Amino acid sequence: MEGRFTAPGKIILFGEHAVVYGKPAIAIPVSGMRATAWSEPGENGITINAMDVNKKIKLSTDKNQFSVLAQSILAITDRQEPNLTINLTSKLPQGSGMGSSAATSTAVCRALSGHLGVDLDANEISELVFEAEKIVHGTPSGIDNTVVAYEMPVYFIKGQNPETFEPGKLFRLVIGDTGIEAPTKETVANVRKAWQNEPGLMEGYFDEIEKITRNGKIAIESGNAEQVGELMDENHELLNSIGVGHKILEELVEIAREKGALGAKLTGGGGGGNMVALAEDKETQKKICEAITEAGYSAYQTSFGEQV
Ligand code: MEV
Repeated sequence: MEGRFTAPGKIILFGEHAVVYGKPAIAIPVSGMRATAWSEPGENGITINAMDVNKKIKLSTDKNQFSVLAQSILAITDRQEPNLTINLTSKLPQGSGMGSSAATSTAVCRALSGHLGVDLDANEISELVFEAEKIVHGTPSGIDNTVVAYEMPVYFIKGQNPETFEPGKLFRLVIGDTGIEAPTKETVANVRKAWQNEPGLMEGYFDEIEKITRNGKIAIESGNAEQVGELMDENHELLNSIGVGHKILEELVEIAREKGALGAKLTGGGGGGNMVALAEDKETQKKICEAITEAGYSAYQTSFGEQV
């Protein structure tokens, strides 16, 4: 089947970085910001046409996230490489903690499997994209490919089946972008160095983050937005302690709190990238979004959970 195939972005609400060390994390899809891929006849094998960066990637010559992905799909489906151009465009900023690489890989995976007439379920897509994520991120936990492929809130522990869960109410968020690209591969490597230097101290932080994530799940399920906000603030401090903060992230967190956010934290790899704030209601959400925009940064409103 030809057509347009898409995948959402994501944000992590609790547990980033600690999740790489076996702790739980919670991520939600950002369905309004997506990567889109579609195929058309091509020549000399598969070409990925990355339209936003004006780059054509050949499968046979480059080793990158897409070639690894496409080769895995061809291998598991026992197909020859077709002559195909897969066009790709994405609304997700790169290196921003919003799952840009997982979303682009998932969209391409869906476009190629769609062209081949192969029906892959969310778990199969997630596992294929995980292989591509290793090329981009080095030692990823697997949370990004999971939340993007399932497009549902997930409670994730590395190496275990992901648990999807139902939020107890609608949670309104504002995402603020520092505009600073910070590749996850680098922030994850920096945390690893810190952990190698001071394992006891870092594991103490990871244990604290684990408690926050576990309580965060209970608070989300019971619809307790105030508690979710408090836990986000605590998680943010711990992320600063493990060394992935940035002064512009602090600025965005401060703006959000001044405008009445219930809580705010960096999200994803940190070191730049995005901040996420929780708002009590639609008006506060709008106010936070406008204040971030007025300060000169891009901001985006999203939500998850039941409409009440
Ligand atoms: C990246 O979205 C989240 C990190 O925890 C890395 C990972 O889980 O692979 C920083």
